[in-house]
Amino acid sequence: MTVASKIEEAGFQPASRIAAIGVSKILQIGARASAMKKDGLPVIILGAGEPDFDTPDNVKEAAKAAIDRGETKYTALDGTPDLKKAIAEKFRRENNVDYALDEITVATGAKQILFNAFMATINPGDEVIIPTPYWTSYSDIVEICGGVPVLIPCDAEAGFRLKADQLEKAITPKTRWVLLNSPSNPSGAAYSEADYRPLLDVLLRHPHVWLMVDDMYEHIVYDGFQFVTPVAIEPRLKSRTLTINGVSKAYAMTGWRIGYAGGPKALIKAMAVIQSQATSCPSSVSQAASVEALNGPQDFLKDRQASFKHRRDLVVSALNAIPGLACRTPEGAFYTFSGCAGVIGKTTPKGKRIEADSDFTDYLLEDAHVAVVPGSAFGLSPFFRISYATSEAELTEALKRIADACAKLA
Ligand SMILES: Cc1ncc(COP(=O)(O)O)c(C=O)c1O
Repeated sequence: MTVASKIEEAGFQPASRIAAIGVSKILQIGARASAMKKDGLPVIILGAGEPDFDTPDNVKEAAKAAIDRGETKYTALDGTPDLKKAIAEKFRRENNVDYALDEITVATGAKQILFNAFMATINPGDEVIIPTPYWTSYSDIVEICGGVPVLIPCDAEAGFRLKADQLEKAITPKTRWVLLNSPSNPSGAAYSEADYRPLLDVLLRHPHVWLMVDDMYEHIVYDGFQFVTPVAIEPRLKSRTLTINGVSKAYAMTGWRIGYAGGPKALIKAMAVIQSQATSCPSSVSQAASVEALNGPQDFLKDRQASFKHRRDLVVSALNAIPGLACRTPEGAFYTFSGCAGVIGKTTPKGKRIEADSDFTDYLLEDAHVAVVPGSAFGLSPFFRISYATSEAELTEALKRIADACAKLA
């Protein structure tokens, strides 16, 4: 059911800009799984897109101190000078990229950064190239802003990564942006410098196309993968690139709602116009906490990375041991995006034929009480996403249930 039809049922006439946009499948599954749990069923939810760690204590203390200092009022529109300085320093230290303070913007989550950027730049019919599978919000935000998402399938054999010839073919005079996300939600795939280079060469040949990169999972990479952001590889693209990041995933701060970006001054200014009429500024207390997250000790990131890697290995090997499933080992983030082609066409013990990945994930929820998200929610089938940001005990039990459920298919 779409948002629009729901609102119409209640007697409202929704705006046409949301008429085609459905309620996120991830949220629908989460709501259904939580309701089943409330009813006493032993549901394990592997759908959440947030770390299971706590926000570090030094960050919490910084927030308390900010409250005690009276930092409880509106701040500068797109970020306090202290936070912008910490972000500039982070870009220099970790990414080898120089952004001046007026080339930095702070918003209520990276999601609002994306929203501000598209609202500020997209005219009706402008195209945004999005490699698929993609984080569901990308296409919905583009559509809300009147743009046209151009979805390019990038399958498991291609490492879920966009290739230069695909990008070249997808570019039209209407292309406004290319949106790249590394490591990716949902696939966990990441672009090395060698993966990025041919794509950046294509972009150099098309000066009307701007590049948006979502580096949200930068700190969650494995096996010595060298994270790199495109502007560090190709400074000639800096004048038309928006480099997005945030504290949500690295510092386990999803609820604090702080995201940020570096980009050309004119774009940053245009984004501030949108923000000024949406939220006025990000939360003062969360900004103070984010200064501490970025400036404070960073060593714990390595420990958390190791813990995620352990769980990734557990999930990937368990999935690959199940006949009918095939999981590529992701370079980063805390998701696996496993193929399930081998179960399509099979029949459940209740006699239901599995026609699509969403039938398979429905079956896992109903019969095995494990909530995962079908690939169709991310634009690529037949796959399903597991978020392994949960305890090892829960993961082990969930994977055993998935294996048993698959074994019962005929
Ligand atoms: C790829 C990606 N980008 C951005 C975000 C949004 O993060 P924030 O919490 O900063 O809005 C998410 C959250 O799930 C994500 O997966």
